[in-house]
Amino acid sequence: MASVSVELHTPITGKFTQPTGLFINNEFVPGVDGRTFEVINPSTEEVITSVHEATEKDVDIAVAAARKAFEGTWKQTTPEQRGKYLVKLADLIEENKDLLAAVESLDNGKSITMARADVGAVAGVIRYYGGWADKIEGKVIDTNPDTFTYTKQEPIGVCGQIIPWNFPLLMFSWKIGPAIATGNTVVIKTAEQTPLSALIAARLIKEAGFPPGVINVITGFGKIAGAALSAHMDVDKVAFTGSTVVGRQIMKAAASSNLKKVTLELGGKSPNIIFNDADIENAISWVNFGIFFNHGQCCCAGSRVYVQSGIYDKFVERFKARALANKVGDPFLPDTFQGPQVSQLQYDRIMGYIQEGKKAGATVVTGGERHGDKGYFIQPTIFSNVTEDMKIMQEEIFGPVCSIAKFDTEEEIIKTANNSIYGLASGIHTKDLNTAIRVANGLRAGTVWINQYNMLHHQIPFGGYKESGMGRELGEAALANYTQVKSVSMRLGNALF
Ligand code: NAI
Ligand code: MG
Repeated sequence: MASVSVELHTPITGKFTQPTGLFINNEFVPGVDGRTFEVINPSTEEVITSVHEATEKDVDIAVAAARKAFEGTWKQTTPEQRGKYLVKLADLIEENKDLLAAVESLDNGKSITMARADVGAVAGVIRYYGGWADKIEGKVIDTNPDTFTYTKQEPIGVCGQIIPWNFPLLMFSWKIGPAIATGNTVVIKTAEQTPLSALIAARLIKEAGFPPGVINVITGFGKIAGAALSAHMDVDKVAFTGSTVVGRQIMKAAASSNLKKVTLELGGKSPNIIFNDADIENAISWVNFGIFFNHGQCCCAGSRVYVQSGIYDKFVERFKARALANKVGDPFLPDTFQGPQVSQLQYDRIMGYIQEGKKAGATVVTGGERHGDKGYFIQPTIFSNVTEDMKIMQEEIFGPVCSIAKFDTEEEIIKTANNSIYGLASGIHTKDLNTAIRVANGLRAGTVWINQYNMLHHQIPFGGYKESGMGRELGEAALANYTQVKSVSMRLGNALF
């Protein structure tokens, strides 16, 4: 049998064993076709290792394992026990924080400090949903004295979950947490750019005691394994995070197969609005974090920055200084803020947008070039004098590139902020409570941050208006994505007809 693990090392952990197989039925196995693909370190552009590639056949096997578990052991498992498994998994994730964070930095390129924060959030999400497992309740509905009616929140069944590379482990937790808490089983496909951390988490899943087949983790490509999962006749639900283009394909695949339920968390082009009366230094910190956190590879990145005319020039000047102070470089250095973009493809896409911005006549305040000569590093880039018709104001760039424009009135900025096909997040910076709430009411976005940005929390629902998606993740709201209501109605009196 082909090897399903490899010895790797990072500057933080030294040597460790990295699983490289598909995780099906609690075992690491090679793909049926014996195919593998390379995993790249985006800081060096070197190959880290290869992992097994799942094709349609492996998807069939993983779905069958999830189906068997769903109809068998998992159905017999009490909600309390489901919660215990999740809490145990959260504990194991915390115990393995350094390893998981180091692998995330190695594979994705995010700084070790940020990766540690991610892993902390992962444990938070899993533990939170562990707490929900035995609190999934129905209702008794009294319609008349002759009937007794109750509802149950039942699991949907086998869930196919497809996740991206920007927060590999965090997206893994957002997906499996609510699905498992509510009694579903899962086949989750990681992104081809970042398969490593979830395979370590898979090992912890087994250690936490989950029965075989409850959580299956497959590595492979979107067009093959992802497409097979979303078109599968025995998958009851597909949950996806990624590009809007692929989101549409997934809905089509669901529609033309078995009409499986679909939830989508897609792109964004989120406005971050700074009023004249804002605390300017605080606002700059949040705007900087809003766009440059995770190298701009955030679906909710505050990539459209609108500054009121009274402070525009001062803001742009000081924001430039702030951006220049962000340390770009080796993700394993503790004071690095920004690492490389995830792949050559993403690097090229972003540089393409930067060229577009320059050609369209926007002003480069800072950045706009490659950083260094190795790895997919891009300088933190700020464009000012950006107009609404420019591509860099309309399209998701998903990189460290910020577009700034000026506005005058509150009425005008609500209109401009909503001038997007997307509606994922938004930010408002002002000291005036009335302005803050009025503008928050006017924005068509799933999240509004006031005097802060990018502050996600596992208790707070997150998701998109408009083409940013459907369904909500995190919080109690996510449970609705993974349950369906059964109404049971019983006649107590005599026959009516
Ligand atoms: P993508 O949407 O192609 O990839 C996300 C996931 O979908 C991966 O697991 C991939 O394997 C899978 N996938 C791809 N094609 C599929 C298909 N036909 N059927 C089923 N699954 C499929 O995103 P990509 O190409 O990596 O990034 C492109 C752009 O998407 C980014 O520049 C960014 O704008 C956006 N994006 C948004 C994310 C978010 O958090 N909302 C995350 C990643 C990318
Ligand atoms: Mg990689």
